[in-house]
Amino acid sequence: MTDFLLSPERMPDACALVIFGASGDLTRRKLLPAIWHLSRQGRLPQEFALVGVARTQMSTDAFRQQMRLALEEFVDLGEQDKEHLEGFLARINYISGDPTTQETYVRLRQRLQDIDQEFGTQGNRCYYCSVPPQVYLDIVRHLGLAQMAREHEQEHGWIRIIVEKPFGHDLDSARELNRSLHKVFKEHQIFRIDHYLGKETVQNILVFRLANSMFEPLWNRRYVDHVQITAAEAVGVEHRAGYYDTSGALRDMIQNHLLQVMCVIAMEPPSTFDAESVRIEKLKVLKAVRPFSVGQVDRFAVRGQYAGGTDVDGNPCRGYLQEEDVPAASRTETFAAVEFTVDNWRWQGVPFYVRTGKRMARRTSSVTLHFKQPPHLIFGDQPPQASTLTIRIQPEEGISLAFSGKRPGPDVHLDAVDMDFCYADHFGGRNPEAYETLILDCLVGDGTLFASNDWIEKSWELLMPIMEAWNATSATQVPSYAAGTWGPVEAQALFDRDWRRWEEA
Ligand code: BG6
Repeated sequence: MTDFLLSPERMPDACALVIFGASGDLTRRKLLPAIWHLSRQGRLPQEFALVGVARTQMSTDAFRQQMRLALEEFVDLGEQDKEHLEGFLARINYISGDPTTQETYVRLRQRLQDIDQEFGTQGNRCYYCSVPPQVYLDIVRHLGLAQMAREHEQEHGWIRIIVEKPFGHDLDSARELNRSLHKVFKEHQIFRIDHYLGKETVQNILVFRLANSMFEPLWNRRYVDHVQITAAEAVGVEHRAGYYDTSGALRDMIQNHLLQVMCVIAMEPPSTFDAESVRIEKLKVLKAVRPFSVGQVDRFAVRGQYAGGTDVDGNPCRGYLQEEDVPAASRTETFAAVEFTVDNWRWQGVPFYVRTGKRMARRTSSVTLHFKQPPHLIFGDQPPQASTLTIRIQPEEGISLAFSGKRPGPDVHLDAVDMDFCYADHFGGRNPEAYETLILDCLVGDGTLFASNDWIEKSWELLMPIMEAWNATSATQVPSYAAGTWGPVEAQALFDRDWRRWEEA
């Protein structure tokens, strides 16, 4: 089997990866394990160095020790990894410094030049902003002032920057962030990360649609009744209320992850699988989404906030308002559902129902295409089971097709049957984490799986009326749902036809 991912053009150049916010949780849990796996699989060049930058005062040795502990905690290290581990840790460096003061960048610049000599990283740099959003702008500005951002400012080498979500808080702040980035970096240098796009199953949607000729003919208004996109989490807000309470489910999940997934489902086939062609097609989808006015929000969007209940393991759990650091009168939604209409030839009249929530009945992210009923029923009064195609993003990654079949026996009884493809059963092994794919893509300069500036601004623009309408109400007007359920009963009201129901609800 040819592994196109191993083709020579997917090997990054010699480079240094600089992580701002290196002492944070994301680095320990996600970024470092991802970089480790890339290194272990030989996907990083010999001339690679990692540079952590954070406020915490510590030496490079102490940082290496922290990173060793993080790997022991979050990666399944075996005996055979030991030798590689020492070489890997030796490529890690640390600079303590305040990312909001220029002096840090003067030292960083000097250190990177030394690293070029020591590790042969050839002036190529990738900066990863793993810091709270209010710090992005400082980093960008200081990189600009220190002449560390423009590719022509150094003799050779490329420079890229990865920006974590949230990308803005609303349309104005996203525009402001884009403007500030563009003062210092060119668009081709900017990689706005959306980890959903790095998930294997999300990438597989395009392969499934476009590397087979049998599904694409069905992928339109003639055969599809409606589409449901769900990202349900079993966990609550955990220890992130400080951030989450200023965000809410709409901003946290729909503006980015779920609208991206919807675009991958709804987009026209691009002529080639490259960043620019994919960007154009995804943007066209958002441009075709019918905007709604503030007055129409109640018809097309529902929110909810979890009350106490029982978690997936049957243990009692607190409601959102009782969680640590949540203001007593918070109206932040922990559940949001929106019906989108895509006004184009392919999807006219096919609603896309998108929902997400915390403390729901179980953890599941999926996309389901519900196909139309047959035009004429010949099996008496037995209605056939609706045919559905479900792409399970996580967990139990896979794809299943449900349709009507005949139950064995002398009479004709219809029954729902399933055809199931499960990643783990078929491919075995470990699916790469989204961050692995995305970091590698950035290091090779491939922006296909990243969000573009125009896409981000358009997505905020679409959601602004919802945020405005919800902002104008009080906490008592937010429907509640018991923890461990599928969200507020009000969510059912989005459906205007009897046979449409939320999956699993
Ligand atoms: C993040 C959100 O972007 O995605 C979190 O900020 C959410 O609130 C997380 O829990 C979900 O990601 P995943 O990969 O677990 O579905």
